[in-house]
Amino acid sequence: MSLNVKNYIRTIADFPHEGILFRDVTTLFADARGFRIAVDQLLAPYAGARIDKVVGLEARGFILGGAVAHQLSTGFVPIRKKGKLPGAVISQAYQLEYGEAVVEVHDDALKPGERVLIVDDLLATGGTAAAGISLCERLGAKVVGCAFVIDLPDLGGRRVLEGLGHEVHVLCG
Ligand code: PRP
Ligand code: ADE
Repeated sequence: MSLNVKNYIRTIADFPHEGILFRDVTTLFADARGFRIAVDQLLAPYAGARIDKVVGLEARGFILGGAVAHQLSTGFVPIRKKGKLPGAVISQAYQLEYGEAVVEVHDDALKPGERVLIVDDLLATGGTAAAGISLCERLGAKVVGCAFVIDLPDLGGRRVLEGLGHEVHVLCG
């Protein structure tokens, strides 16, 4: 089997809504080689950089981001959907490819000046990542990069994040 992570990802039509081609990374995560390759490739550009925290976006960004944080020996900070975090939070609303949502982070999760790497499985419109970036920056952190396994280029997320001045690292389209 080739070492391209794309070979481990399947597409499921009409989930969660008609017309959506859902990129399912559970098949990537379930494969020992696939998962290792994905994590190694996600962190490769940042291996020598100063990163204080990896920030993972719910839900699949937790699986990838936790592994990346472990490899980089950094802490891990979750950005969660509204109402899931137990402590005091700050919130950010955003648009999804198929809906609208609010994400939150604990208001003491990042310190001013901390350098963070944002990790998620997939970049579509960029709404989720832009909201995550906004939460990090509102806490005074510096976003050093945003790393994704998959980019859906037709949805323009990369342009959105680069337009905000952020480095985007993706493994496949
Ligand atoms: C997916 C994906 C990203 C987001 C990307 O998560 O894991 O987080 O959509 O879309 P965007 O670039 O258009 O914002 P989803 O919202 O399905 O949430 P889940 O991981 O909790 O299922
Ligand atoms: N999040 C937004 N669009 C998606 C897609 N097509 N597949 C998986 N996750 C997504």
